[in-house]
Amino acid sequence: MKNHVLRPLIVVGVIVASMLVARAIVVPSDFGVHERGYMYGWHRLSNEQEWKAVQVRYKTSAGCPRCHPDKAADLANSPHNIISCENCHGPALEHPKDPAGYFIDRSRTLCIRCHAKLPYGNTPRGRIRGIDPDKHYVQAECVMCHIPHNPKPTNQKQEVKS
Ligand code: HEC
Ligand code: HEC
Ligand code: HEC
Ligand code: HEC
Repeated sequence: MKNHVLRPLIVVGVIVASMLVARAIVVPSDFGVHERGYMYGWHRLSNEQEWKAVQVRYKTSAGCPRCHPDKAADLANSPHNIISCENCHGPALEHPKDPAGYFIDRSRTLCIRCHAKLPYGNTPRGRIRGIDPDKHYVQAECVMCHIPHNPKPTNQKQEVKS
């Protein structure tokens, strides 16, 4: 064979060989088609156990009223009734095992996440009553004036003038 044919062939051969070697090293031994065919079976078998071991960190609000009936009742009768406790207090996995360690965020940042006015028109986010975080009583935490579990305008903790 002529050199100009042979050389590219050798290059291709080397590339294919190194891909096969790399595949043997990189692809885990239990990767492949398992019992249910390509649509669901094409994965690493040990990954199933890894997903079973993942702990769900959010527990939903369903268990909270048993121990915090007052908070649950306040929230249920307030404009915040569509928000889950954990949306403000964070994942409850370790609670009440460790009540002291559970999360209370009194910062403006917590509320601004949902209440900064955004130009999203008639969308669920756009419909949330918004304020301008740089103008709305910047000197204080929101919870100084609004009760987070029942933030009706008539329910401010104190009378204020802008
Ligand atoms: C089995 C009872 C129990 C359940 C269920 C429970 N809590 Fe508690 N929680 C407690 C106790 C006890 C305390 C500590 C005493 C207190 O502050 O009332 C506490 C304290 C708290 C605190 C204050 C923590 C602090 O640092 O002061 C928050 C916030 C809270 N719980 C939220 C929740 C939320 C949200 C849920 C549902 C996801 C929940 N709890 C479910 C018993 C419970
Ligand atoms: C909109 C955010 C938000 C939601 C939703 C929310 N909380 Fe809170 N919660 C707070 C903030 C902020 C504080 C601290 C208030 C303060 O110090 O003035 C707090 C305080 C608490 C405390 C501390 C004790 C106390 O008397 O203030 C408990 C317990 C608590 N929340 C339980 C709950 C439970 C249970 C739910 C769901 C039924 C819930 N919270 C939903 C923001 C929220
Ligand atoms: C996860 C999103 C979310 C968070 C976090 C949140 N809110 Fe709200 N808030 C809402 C929604 C949704 C409503 C109901 C729609 C409306 O009235 O804008 C609402 C209503 C309100 C209202 C208007 C009540 C009325 O009827 O006039 C006030 C005031 C308010 N929230 C204050 C706060 C404060 C203070 C915090 C922080 C402690 C906070 N919110 C955190 C979503 C949120
Ligand atoms: C010093 C007290 C005070 C503080 C701090 C404060 N607010 Fe208010 N907020 C008010 C008063 C009073 C109103 C009634 C309307 C007005 O005067 O702007 C109001 C109204 C609102 C409304 C309803 C707006 C509407 O269009 O109906 C929302 C939402 C709100 N505040 C969220 C917040 C958030 C979020 C924070 C923190 C970033 C915060 N507020 C901090 C006193 C306060």
